[in-house]
Amino acid sequence: MSESQRWDAVDAYFATHLAPDDEALEAALRDSEAAGLPPIAVTAAQGKLLELLAQIQGARRILEVGTLGGYSTIRMARALPADGRLISLEYSPRHAEVAARNIARAGLDKIVEIRVGAALDSLPRLADENPAPFDLVFIDADKENNPHYVEWALKLTRAGSLIIVDNVVRGGRVADPADTDPDVIGTRTAIELLGSHPRLTATAIQTVGAKGYDGFALARVTS
Ligand code: SAH
Ligand code: DHB
Ligand code: MG
Repeated sequence: MSESQRWDAVDAYFATHLAPDDEALEAALRDSEAAGLPPIAVTAAQGKLLELLAQIQGARRILEVGTLGGYSTIRMARALPADGRLISLEYSPRHAEVAARNIARAGLDKIVEIRVGAALDSLPRLADENPAPFDLVFIDADKENNPHYVEWALKLTRAGSLIIVDNVVRGGRVADPADTDPDVIGTRTAIELLGSHPRLTATAIQTVGAKGYDGFALARVTS
């Protein structure tokens, strides 16, 4: 068994016992694949972690950047009370359409709102509405813009809010200062911002499993 086969086997074992996909989550993945969306949703175990973090956070309002087919959206929205709100920003109208169907099938269309467009266009519009602060922000779109998404998350949250950034390892490239890929530079800049910002306390965790070698960053807004 290769190293990565072992990671997959353990991920499958954990998913089976701790984070099984129910019908709505399974259907969301199936329809996303059928529609040709890339298979880059969070894993089952990661999705369950997002749901648990939203619960631990006591979240009533969640902001997501990067919807894809709505898999992570469904997990997080399930942690919300009936009068909770999840706003998810998605660039691709096609992805948003698939996600909207998946979210409706999961019975969450009253709680979830998808806004189509580049997140850097949607975020200032959202801020103009003076929304109540978000309790959790999940950043999972174009990695190049991660530093901007962190800055917007800071404007849209409160002391005690949680900011999560997905895909901060990318096979280890994040730690290679010679790597000039815009996604890697965006990720490095975001990590360094999380570490140096006076209003944030943060960490990052490496993960292995069905999505290979990757990881996520967690930051708490302190003031
Ligand atoms: N959060 C999803 C996966 C998101 S994949 C899950 O785990 O289930 C990244 C998504 O970000 C893709 O759907 C892509 O179309 C979207 N995206 C890319 N650039 C974007 C941008 N500038 N603004 C908003 N969404 C963007
Ligand atoms: C990619 C994007 C993601 O959000 C992810 O979780 C995995 C991969 C990508 O663009 O390759
Ligand atoms: Mg991701």
